[in-house]
Amino acid sequence: MRTFKVFLLVSLLLIFAFSFSAFAGEKRLVLYGSPAEKWVALVAHEFTKATGIPVDWTRRSSGETLAKIKAEMNNPQGDVWFGGTLDPHYEAALEGLLQPYPTSPMIPELRDWAKNPAIAYMVKGLYAGPLGWGVNVELLKSKGLPIPKVWEDLTKPCYKGLIGMANPNTSGTAFTTLSTILQLMGWEKGWDYLARLHKNIAVYTKSGAASGPMAGKGEIAISIIFLHDVVKFAEQGYPIVPIPPADGTGYEIGGLSIINWCPHPQVAKQFVDFVLRPDIQALAPKAESYQLPSNKKAPLPEVIRKYGVSFDDVKLIKYDFKWAGEHRKEIVDKWTKEIYSLPR
Ligand code: F6P
Repeated sequence: MRTFKVFLLVSLLLIFAFSFSAFAGEKRLVLYGSPAEKWVALVAHEFTKATGIPVDWTRRSSGETLAKIKAEMNNPQGDVWFGGTLDPHYEAALEGLLQPYPTSPMIPELRDWAKNPAIAYMVKGLYAGPLGWGVNVELLKSKGLPIPKVWEDLTKPCYKGLIGMANPNTSGTAFTTLSTILQLMGWEKGWDYLARLHKNIAVYTKSGAASGPMAGKGEIAISIIFLHDVVKFAEQGYPIVPIPPADGTGYEIGGLSIINWCPHPQVAKQFVDFVLRPDIQALAPKAESYQLPSNKKAPLPEVIRKYGVSFDDVKLIKYDFKWAGEHRKEIVDKWTKEIYSLPR
């Protein structure tokens, strides 16, 4: 009898321990972030502080994150994809890799462009920001070169070896550049332009913002990046100036998605609602992230107006996110095969 009681007790303890660990397993979040590392770290920290739920976070560029989610399709490891340009989120939605979350109580608080930017509420908008150039004006002056004004200027021979951008295979910023050019100039003229631009490129970086500090240090003179990133580097003291192309430019919507069949779906929803809150979005400038926040009640960082690069100051094209998402793979493959392989 005594042996039976001990057996029963041990069994109960094991059942309790097992259910506790299963519960503890549920209370975690695996976060894939694509904006600046500092911001991903900050939201992860704030979420844990508010809920007690630990967050395992990593930062990868937008295209790299899409590749990771695709590679893990049969055994998803991540819960939420936080930020990064919308186009690869759109491609992920098209391929059924994301989970819709149409019942988020935060949706009514979002700006219109952020409510459902891709297919049946699979992606929400987290932020937005226009594309442009970070220019080391002093370096150009010292070389007797003018500040470029329109996209065509970047292909002039005088800028050869002075321009940097990221590789669109990894970077959402770089894909936004390709897509902007193709939408602004049309398919034929756009590809011709991209081939001519390639001749002037000194360096292709992995992550979108990486060529900003290179322009600041004078390794190159012009970086093709998002204007909010130029503001960040200028505020850090790099001598670069944000220049919006005068003939028009594209922009990004930063995506926010739950990965389909993710290991912690309830926590994932909790996190999505948390980062769409205005008080949490208002923390982004503390992490030097100056995008336009998607919650109507979160203010535009003041520094964006100071540098004259808000959406009101920049001439925007009517960027077609649906077209960009549907053609992303084709465009990146064509660029890699037909442009990247060309000599510079
Ligand atoms: O640095 C921040 C940021 O520009 C975001 O606004 C954007 O979504 C992301 O980086 C894009 O990074 P990448 O080009 O490396 O994918």
